[in-house]
Amino acid sequence: MSHFLDIHKTDPEALRSIIDNAQSMKTARAGRTRGALDDDQPLAGHMVALIFEKPSTRTRVSFDVGVRQMGGETMLLSGADMQLGHGETIADTARVLSRYVDLIMIRTFDEGVLLDMADYADVPVINGLTDRTHPCQIMADVMTYEEHRGPIKGKKVVWSGDGNNVCSSFLHAAGQFGFDLTFTGPMQLDPEGEFVGNARKSGSKITIERDPAKAVEGADLVVTDTWVSMHDSQSTKERRHNMLRPYQVNEALMARAKPDALFMHCLPAHREDEATSAVMDGPNSVIFDEAENRLHAQKAIMRWCLGV
Ligand code: CP
Ligand code: NVA
Repeated sequence: MSHFLDIHKTDPEALRSIIDNAQSMKTARAGRTRGALDDDQPLAGHMVALIFEKPSTRTRVSFDVGVRQMGGETMLLSGADMQLGHGETIADTARVLSRYVDLIMIRTFDEGVLLDMADYADVPVINGLTDRTHPCQIMADVMTYEEHRGPIKGKKVVWSGDGNNVCSSFLHAAGQFGFDLTFTGPMQLDPEGEFVGNARKSGSKITIERDPAKAVEGADLVVTDTWVSMHDSQSTKERRHNMLRPYQVNEALMARAKPDALFMHCLPAHREDEATSAVMDGPNSVIFDEAENRLHAQKAIMRWCLGV
C-alpha cells in the first residue's frame, strides 16, 4: 500500500510508471462511452471515500467516474457534513474510515490534515489538493504535455502568475521529471523557497524572472492559474489583481514563446484575468485535454496506491 501525497515524495520510477499506465488505459478505452467499464476491473470490490472540504468539479467527477470505470464504488463525503467538521480528530476519522473503505482521497485546506490522515489511516490516502500542493493535476499535465509533444525531460516550462499550490507541484515535477521551470510573477507571490531549492537540488534549472516577456522566450509550455485561490481571502482580491495583471497570459505573451509552445491551465479559470479567451481557446491550448487526463492519470494513481 502506498500513499500519493506529493510528486516530490513519490519516486521517479513510480511516477513514470503511473504516467505510462495512464496512457495505456486511455488508449484501451478509445471510442468507448464514458460510462463503459474497463475490460479488466482492478477496483472490483473496492470502496473509495472522496472527501471534499473545498469545492470541486474536475477532481470530484474524474475520481468518481475513474473508480466506477475500474469496477469500484465511491462514497462522496463533504467535510462539513462529517464529524470531522465538528471537532472529531483527523486521527480518529482516519482510523474509523479505514475500517470501511479501501482508499481515501481528500481535498482539504491545511496540509497537516492530509498528513495526519495518511499517518493514521491503514489504507492509501491521495492528495486531491491542499493549500500547498495539487499533485494529481500535475500528473495529468505531464501526461498531456507528453501526449502532444513527447518527453517533457529537458523542456522549458514557464509559470506566469501566482506561485501557488499548483505552481508548487509543477516545481516538484520539474525535479522528478527533469524539466526546467521559469517562474514569472511579483516577488510577493513567489513560490515557496523550499520547493525551489528541492527542484534545484534534483538538477533542474529553476529561474525567477520578473519580466514576463523575457521569461517566456524559448518556452515549450506556458502555464497559469487563478489569481485568487480557494484558500485566499477575498479581501486580498483587488491587491492580487493589481500585482498580477502584468502576468496575464495573452496572445502577445504567447507570441514570444516557441511557436509550438503549449498553453495549460488547471481550471477553473477567470477568463480575461489570468488568461485571455483568445489563448484559452487558441490553437496551442490543451486545457480540456488536461481536464480529461485527470481521469486517466488518477486511475493509474489509484491502481499504484492499491497495487492492483
Ligand atoms: N483543476 C481542479 O482541480 O479542478 P476542480 O477544483 O474543479 O476539482
Ligand atoms: N490554485 C487553485 C487551484 C484550483 C484547482 C486553488 O487552490 O483554488
